[in-house]
Amino acid sequence: MQKLKIKGGEKISGTIIISGSKNATLPILASTILTNKKIIITNIPIVRDVETMADLLSTIGSTIKLDKKIKKIEILNKKPLKTFAPYHLLKTMRAGVLVLGPLLAKYGSAKVSLPGGCAIGSRPIDIHLEALKKMGANIKIKSGYIIASAKNGLKGCLIKFPKISVGATENILIASCFAIGKTKLRNCASEPEVKDLVIFLKKLGCNISWFGKRGIDIFGVKKLKSATHKVIFDRIEAGTYIIASALTNGKLKIKNIDPKIMSAEIKILDKMNVKIVKKKNYIIASSSKKLKSVNISTKPYPGFPTDLQAQIMVLMLKANGTSTIKENIFENRFMHVPELKRMGADIRIKGNKATIIGNKKLNGAELMATDLRASVSLVLAGLVASNKTIVNRIYHLDRGYESIEKKLLRCGAQIRRLK
Ligand code: UD1
Repeated sequence: MQKLKIKGGEKISGTIIISGSKNATLPILASTILTNKKIIITNIPIVRDVETMADLLSTIGSTIKLDKKIKKIEILNKKPLKTFAPYHLLKTMRAGVLVLGPLLAKYGSAKVSLPGGCAIGSRPIDIHLEALKKMGANIKIKSGYIIASAKNGLKGCLIKFPKISVGATENILIASCFAIGKTKLRNCASEPEVKDLVIFLKKLGCNISWFGKRGIDIFGVKKLKSATHKVIFDRIEAGTYIIASALTNGKLKIKNIDPKIMSAEIKILDKMNVKIVKKKNYIIASSSKKLKSVNISTKPYPGFPTDLQAQIMVLMLKANGTSTIKENIFENRFMHVPELKRMGADIRIKGNKATIIGNKKLNGAELMATDLRASVSLVLAGLVASNKTIVNRIYHLDRGYESIEKKLLRCGAQIRRLK
C-alpha cells in the first residue's frame, strides 16, 4: 500500500496551479448518460474518483476517451447504454449513485448498487430516492441494489428537499431534464459545482433556470445537443494549499481560480491573520507569524465548507488561543482528530464540536489516512511537524487530490511517495 513520507519544517512557497473540481466533474460525467451526441469536457482533474466514474460509464457502454495529459475527456454514447451499475464500481465512490437519475430518466429503469464512499457518516440516499418516487418512479432495495423503474417516464412535480443535499440536488436536477412537464426543485444546494452542472446541462439544451437562491425550475426536453465544457476549479484544493502556505510561513501564488467563489473561506482565513491578495483569477497567500484563533461552523454553500474543516483544524493548532469548529454537515467527520492527537495536538471533541488548543508543537509520527479530507489534513500536519511523518493508506488522498506530492514538492516540501 502506498504511503507519503514528509519531513516537516519547509516553507511552502512558489506557484500552484489548481486543478478542475472533482465534485463538479462527477455529476457532469454522470449527466452525459442523457445524450447520444459527442461531449468534450476539459480541465478534468486526474484523480481516482474521476477515473472510477469514467470506468462506470464505459462499463455501461459509453465510448470514453480520457487524455490525461491534456485533462480532456470525450464521451459518445453510440448505442443505448446498459442500465446496470455494479457494486465494484460504486463501493469506493458515493457519487456513483449520480448515474441513477439519468439512467432512470432516459431508459425508464435502472439497477444501481447502493454506494460506498468516505467513512464520515451514515450518508443515506433517502432524499434522492424519495424525490424520484415523487416523480413517479417505483423503487425497491434488494440485495444491496436500488431497483428503479418509471415505465411511462418521470413526471415533473414540486420537490422540496427536506435537507440541503448536493448529491440529491444534482441527481434529481439531471433526471428532471427528461421528465414530462415542469419540475420545481426547492431548498436546493447552491454549491458552485451544482451551478457548473447547470451551465453544462444548459449547453446540452436543457431548459433550466434558477428560482431565487435555492430553487431550480426545469422544463423537460426530449433531445439534446453536443457540447464542450471546461470544468470549474477545485475550491477545496485551492483552500488546502492556502492553508499549506499559511501554516509554513510560505508565500504561494494560487492560480486558475476565482476568489469570488471562495468568499467564506477567505473571510475566515483573513480573520486568522492569513494574508490573501485577491486578483481576478489568482490569489497570493502568505501569513503573518501571529495566526489568530477563530470559531467556525460548517454549512452548505455559501457557508464554510465541511470539505475544508479538517485542513483548517491543522491551521488552528498553530494559532494563538483556542479555536472551535462546529461540524454541521456530517456526523462522523472528526476522524483525523485521533491521528492529530498522536502528533501532540490538544483537541477536545464533544458531539459535533471540536475545541482546538493553539500554539501546539506537532511531532512527526506514522499515521493512518481514513477519508479524503482527513488524509490531506495529516499531510498538512506533517509539513509543520518536527522530524518525519508517514501517512499510510493514501489511496483516500488519490481519490480527490491531483498530483499532491508533486505540487508540494515543487513548492519546497520534502515529500516522497513510497510504493
Ligand atoms: C457532496 C460532496 C462532498 C461534500 C458534501 C457536502 C460530491 C461528489 N461530494 O457529497 O465532498 O462533503 O457534498 O458539501 O460532490 N443526506 C441525507 N440523505 C440523502 C442525502 C444526504 O440525509 O439522501 C445528508 C448527508 O448524510 C449529510 C448531508 O445530507 O449529512 C449533506 O450531504 P450531501 O450534500 O448529500 O453530500 P454528498 O452529495 O454526498
